[in-house]
Amino acid sequence: MAQAQTEALSCPYALDAMGRNLGREAAMLRTQGPAVQVTLPGGITAWAVVQQRYVERILADDRVSRSARLHWPDFIDGHIQADWPLYPWVANENMFNSYGEQRSRLRRLVAGAFTVRRSEAMRPKVEAITAELLAGLADQGAQAPVDLRARFTALLPMRVICELFGVEQGAATDALCAALHTVFTSSVSAEEMNQALLEAFHLLTAVVERKRVEPGDDLTSALIAARDADDRLTEEELLGTLYLMIAGGMDSPTTLMTNAIAALLTHPEQLEHVRAGRADWNDVIDETLRMHTPGAYSPLRFAVEDIDLDGVLIKKGEPILVSFAAGGLDPVRYGASVAEFDLLRTGRDTLGFGHGAHRCLGAPLARVEAQSAFGELFDRFPDMQLACPADELEPMPTFLMNGFKSLPVLLG
Ligand code: HEM
Repeated sequence: MAQAQTEALSCPYALDAMGRNLGREAAMLRTQGPAVQVTLPGGITAWAVVQQRYVERILADDRVSRSARLHWPDFIDGHIQADWPLYPWVANENMFNSYGEQRSRLRRLVAGAFTVRRSEAMRPKVEAITAELLAGLADQGAQAPVDLRARFTALLPMRVICELFGVEQGAATDALCAALHTVFTSSVSAEEMNQALLEAFHLLTAVVERKRVEPGDDLTSALIAARDADDRLTEEELLGTLYLMIAGGMDSPTTLMTNAIAALLTHPEQLEHVRAGRADWNDVIDETLRMHTPGAYSPLRFAVEDIDLDGVLIKKGEPILVSFAAGGLDPVRYGASVAEFDLLRTGRDTLGFGHGAHRCLGAPLARVEAQSAFGELFDRFPDMQLACPADELEPMPTFLMNGFKSLPVLLG
């Protein structure tokens, strides 16, 4: 998978919007140096940064911003509009797409609810949801293939994040889930992407309206109180924050759990390390984040001033696309064993939860969800197997997420 020699690439290289082979593509891009120009759907050119040490450097650099509003001339001039397929990724107003004081203010509003302590306090609830979902699966029978992604790993984080934000289960939640999933799919058209964004905001506006009338002990009500009490939050920021938290809380943990379960089922000797106490579920999470990171790319970042990346000049205002998935597969960092799924490996410093100012806010909660899911799943179904050869698992049609469309298993 990883290659040391430089391959000649047509420049700028068009990233595969279908994400058919993210690992091979990243390996090719890695050979081109600290940063290489790529084109994104809709013809936008960006600097792709895929080597681990430069990814870390860019993520920690104050001269790099996620705010298109402040630092992307094409956005400021109005050239980037809703007819660009990745528009939702740069247009929503929330901590993700902001810089400096605005980013700190928006992050502070919700950060307290996602500390390690608060996430641990969610554990009993997460375990109860896990047990309920697995009990439903057990009714399937042992020999009929079950899509574990659709029936379990997609439902657990959705139920947890909806519970936290006071979003009631029902047809509207399913529609919200579908819309947010579309936003993570780089191969859809601009119309589909923006329709999904409108749909998500429409559904979230209904949640906010309901919570304004009937506030509860949930984070949406807390955000509304912050908005209404002292105007620290605009209406766009309120909806944008709700959107970000729920979107972030769904597809990424789903994909992490799906990738990890697939890896354990194809490497039973690694699962045995956990069963024998030589490794634990955190090792599974960390090794999956290294080798099969869910968030492949998260568009976009912008140079606040000219940046010299060891001889590659990224000019002020130019877009940058950082790869979170490629670093863990960098042979310069992990040597000859880079392509081995190895729970006993030491000294990982993966970037799967990001790094620097925008590092993942939901990482502690994602860990609680994954630990609960793995523990109960492998206890309840110790003989579970993949229902198809591993190389027939289909990748999601996107370069934004690195995962499988479905995970058919026989529960055994
Ligand atoms: C295994 C699961 C998850 C993975 C792999 C993951 C990955 C990431 C990554 C790589 C970033 C940084 C993006 C960037 O810098 O461009 C990020 C940011 C973020 N994540 Fe997660 N995430 C996960 C779970 C969650 C959960 C459960 C939530 C919500 C409860 C969440 C909410 C966020 C938020 C709000 C940000 C933006 C932080 C900021 O801009 O300051 N994530 N995540």
